[in-house]
Amino acid sequence: MRAETASLGWETCQAETVADATDQWLLDTEVSYRSANISHARHFSYGMLLNFDKAVDEMHLSEAGNRTQLLDLAAGTTWLTDLLAQRGASCVALDMAAAKYVGLESADVFMKKHLTYYERVLGDMNKLPFRDNSFDIVLSHSAIHHSPNIRDALSQVRAVLRPGGSLFLVNEPTLSLSGLFDAPITGEEQVRGENPTSLFGYLLALRRAGFSSIRMYFPPGLSHRLDTLAETNRLGDPRGKGQKVKYFFIGRILPLWNRSPVFRYIIRRYLFWPYAFVVGQFVIIKASKSARQAA
Ligand SMILES: C[S@@+](CC[C@H](N)C(=O)[O-])C[C@H]1O[C@@H](n2cnc3c(N)ncnc32)[C@H](O)[C@@H]1O
Repeated sequence: MRAETASLGWETCQAETVADATDQWLLDTEVSYRSANISHARHFSYGMLLNFDKAVDEMHLSEAGNRTQLLDLAAGTTWLTDLLAQRGASCVALDMAAAKYVGLESADVFMKKHLTYYERVLGDMNKLPFRDNSFDIVLSHSAIHHSPNIRDALSQVRAVLRPGGSLFLVNEPTLSLSGLFDAPITGEEQVRGENPTSLFGYLLALRRAGFSSIRMYFPPGLSHRLDTLAETNRLGDPRGKGQKVKYFFIGRILPLWNRSPVFRYIIRRYLFWPYAFVVGQFVIIKASKSARQAA
């Protein structure tokens, strides 16, 4: 019931965005993410796509002898499932939303245009309808933070992964210290069922769900952001005091530090953790199921 509410909420929130949508609009999703990075919104999306590209590199899809069985968890319109299918993965897209331009029905447009094929499953990521040991890779792109119980959802993901298989959490937002000073999430964000946890919360939940090897990557989207913030210093309107401080830090202080090669190195090597903790960040985490573990 809770999950249905979340999904209905998502469809309701998207209704206005997709009211004038066309098939071409859908097909342009990747183009609009990639094309420009001048305004904040686009800049932000471009960074997310860089993070996705990094995760795809780490999936080594072209090296796999047999076709990689990949589950795209809460796949939305399936635009990323389609990109993965184009790279040769044998994909299944799962989401609670079916409606065209929001959910799984959108896949018809991608498949027709790109001559791809992937299965679609209308279902709940909190009750995965798959046999144990079914997938080599599970991708959660901006998705698992919609689960009301992330640890439970991760346990189910681990069960459906084959021994040696990996989960990629990509562009999952983290709760941060500065967020504590912001107004509580209300309205659309609440309806959509946003339920992010801290970076530590994700790592702990992965451990508790039984994942054995957990690796975090420095997000290329953040690197890009640091490199371009001085020129594209438009971060939107702060929601509260916390965001004001955060915007000052990432809009003014970090770009200054970033000019020095020594600081650039330090930021990338050591500051991700404190950065994610204080400011919040989209994470890229790879977590694997031990090759010796069955379900
Ligand atoms: C932010 S969107 C991400 C969609 C897609 N992964 C992407 O990156 O474009 C979140 C998605 O989660 C789906 N969702 C929310 N709760 C869900 C649940 N319990 N089971 C399956 N899907 C769910 C929504 O329908 C929505 O498509």
